[in-house]
Amino acid sequence: MSRKPPSVIAIYPGSFDPITNGHLDLIQRGARMFNKLIVSILRHDAKKPLFSVEERKEMLAEVIHVYPNVEVDSFDGLLVDHAAAREATVLLRGIRAISDYEYELQMALMNRRLRPDIETVFMMANEAYSFISSRLVKEVYGLGGNISGLVPPSVEARMHRRLSKTKHKGA
Ligand code: PNS
Repeated sequence: MSRKPPSVIAIYPGSFDPITNGHLDLIQRGARMFNKLIVSILRHDAKKPLFSVEERKEMLAEVIHVYPNVEVDSFDGLLVDHAAAREATVLLRGIRAISDYEYELQMALMNRRLRPDIETVFMMANEAYSFISSRLVKEVYGLGGNISGLVPPSVEARMHRRLSKTKHKGA
């Protein structure tokens, strides 16, 4: 008797301010692993974001449209409650270096305590992107450095527009 494998929905949560090629690599790999992957942006982040949630949603939508089983969402409150509301049983997170591990372990254990039926799955970042973070991309770009190859071209163009607008205002 053949049994149909269960359909697994995963949430890939984060700030995505902005999405980097490291995030995109994880999305691409996650899309192959899970039946549905929901990339979810935390709405009320303590860090002051460069891009609004709506802008980040747009930037994500521009790059994920090639993956039919990937969608974008946003959330407030507990991540596990959002996952349960979206019928997701997996939280996907990337680990770039050992320095990520402690924070990720704490979050995974807390999330497991809150909802034991939701599992955190970690993927090792592609070594080509393991040094990239949204924070560093913004810093380098703000100081005039080259960020090509670190973020999708559509994101680079948007950052360029944002920076020239800021410069214009300051002039
Ligand atoms: O990309 P980030 O900033 O590292 O993502 C962090 C995120 C959004 C995954 C984390 O801050 C989060 O899950 N926040 C929601 C609040 C929550 O559920 N907190 C308790 C679990 S530790």
